Amino acid sequence: MHNAAFAALDLDWRYVACEVDPKHLRAAIAGAQVMGFAGLNLTVPHKLLAVDLVDTLEASAKKWGAVNTIQFTERGAIGFNTDADAIVAALREDLRLELRGATVLLLGAGGAGRTAALKLVSEGVAGLFLVNRTPSKAEAIAGEIRSQFPSVKVSTGYPQGGVDLLLNATSLGLKPGDASPLDESQFALKQARAVYDMIYRPAETPLLRAARAAGCQTANGLGMLLHQGAKAFEIWTGRAAPLEVMRRALVENIYGHQI
Ligand code: ATR
Repeated sequence: MHNAAFAALDLDWRYVACEVDPKHLRAAIAGAQVMGFAGLNLTVPHKLLAVDLVDTLEASAKKWGAVNTIQFTERGAIGFNTDADAIVAALREDLRLELRGATVLLLGAGGAGRTAALKLVSEGVAGLFLVNRTPSKAEAIAGEIRSQFPSVKVSTGYPQGGVDLLLNATSLGLKPGDASPLDESQFALKQARAVYDMIYRPAETPLLRAARAAGCQTANGLGMLLHQGAKAFEIWTGRAAPLEVMRRALVENIYGHQI
């Protein structure tokens, strides 16, 4: 998506993917900087490690405790996090969902789940239900939210009634044959107005397929991927990201068809 965006804006830039052993991350960041890179994206497990390796943490990276975007400047490497804002942008765009006042059932309490939980709460959700295979991790996030946002109703476990959004932030559904992240004996899909799965490959996870069959609005994680990338593009180039060009490139490269 970045190379398509550079071409669309006539920028003689290139985006390349490099696999870096975590133990060499410091050297890789320093090396990219001296080679004149404008910046970097980082993914798991480098997002957490990079927090201690950049010269400055911008507010987003400080807040979420993870760096997915680095910008190299004369003052050194600045770390950003564009993931959290991308959740909100994708939910708004793909599901027309406004988080203020909404109730959400969130599955998953790993890195992605924690960021999503804190972002949802900071956007003003009225109620949040957290479910995770390892309940203590959901409890820890609930505790963090209770101390930072005392007015939000947060609980662990499945809700009795309906929710505006069911959000999957677990990795279940990535691999063929994965079990569903949702225990349908505890929560029926028709209790959710909309279902968002952060997974974008496969395009329709078993959870999303079941949700569509139950009449829920559904969307996969492609919008999150797009928006975190668009924000990074704007940080590096200082130009508005050509969103539709980037979306088209993503769909073509990931799903092999045109939109
Ligand atoms: P990420 O950075 O993508 O969030 P992660 O921190 O490894 O990755 O978190 C993965 C999430 O998927 C966790 O919520 C994990 O549950 P645990 O906290 O109990 O490990 C969940 N997950 C992964 N495999 C799972 C499985 N087989 N069944 C249920 N949940 C699973």
